[in-house]
Amino acid sequence: MKNRVLVTRIIPEKALSILKEHAQVAIHLEDRAMKEEEILGQIPGKLALLPMGSDLISAKILETGKDLKIVANYAVGFNNIDLSTATSLKIAVTNTPDVLTETTADLTFALILGVARRLAEGDRFVRAGKWVEWKPNLFTGSDVYGKTLGIIGLGRIGSAVAQRGLGFRMRILYADVRPADRGVEERCQAKFVPLGDLLQESDFVTLHIPLSPETTHLIGREELRLMKKNAFLINASRGPVVDEEALVEALRSGAIAGAGLDVFEKEPKVSPELLSMENTLLLPHVGSATMETREKMAFVAVNNILAVLRGQTPPNLLNPEIYRT
Ligand code: DGY
Repeated sequence: MKNRVLVTRIIPEKALSILKEHAQVAIHLEDRAMKEEEILGQIPGKLALLPMGSDLISAKILETGKDLKIVANYAVGFNNIDLSTATSLKIAVTNTPDVLTETTADLTFALILGVARRLAEGDRFVRAGKWVEWKPNLFTGSDVYGKTLGIIGLGRIGSAVAQRGLGFRMRILYADVRPADRGVEERCQAKFVPLGDLLQESDFVTLHIPLSPETTHLIGREELRLMKKNAFLINASRGPVVDEEALVEALRSGAIAGAGLDVFEKEPKVSPELLSMENTLLLPHVGSATMETREKMAFVAVNNILAVLRGQTPPNLLNPEIYRT
């Protein structure tokens, strides 16, 4: 079989077996990420690469993969891939949008509720055998219901978070590079405001933007200073969107009340200060981690590869310019 594909981690079996019907698939079977040298060693002769969002797909890998026609990322974010090099080499790059929207919005809301109601702290307290009696001031947190939710990026996931906020009768503000379509604004009952206003008025500020040079450290010292002292920062997008050092300072000084984080600036490394704080809820980048969604992501990635192998345009193409003459 001439269609040779490299898959960098074990992905859900149903989608993998479909891929295997149409291609000769090499899978990295160990439960750890492939090193760049390992990918470099395997990439020659492969027509397709299916990496995880955590695999850095460098220019070197793309240039070494002389037969590569597609990199089908197993993630909606694609900041791990050198897109401009892929485009210049006419390699299609695809991602897995839509299927993980609701799942990631659920996790975002779990972070909001968890950090506001101090769920992880309470859990640690009970497990440590420290619970002696009911007390009126035991783990008193903050209400979520009826508060102001500030969404930075009212795209697919941001809108899904807004919908959940409406269920909690929250006032929804959003900031973005441009206003959303009227239909989206109406469905989310969301008001477009400048970022500064959003930061000053929100009780929960949640980030739903892709990582790019423009969004790196979008939330830094100045922005954190604008937030209310009793507000929480939530990040389930990409770690470097927040200046983690500035966040540590803001949390330590009481400039904000807490943070719910699923992503980190240098993940899997987490600032030791964040680890030692009680007002942080920290998760290991599990926004889309449900069995159902991970299976759907696998089908999306496999379908993108199969389309390219059939000579078709993949459905989730990120660099359509490669097909322009
Ligand atoms: C995504 O899909 O982008 C998730 O964050 C996994 O990388």
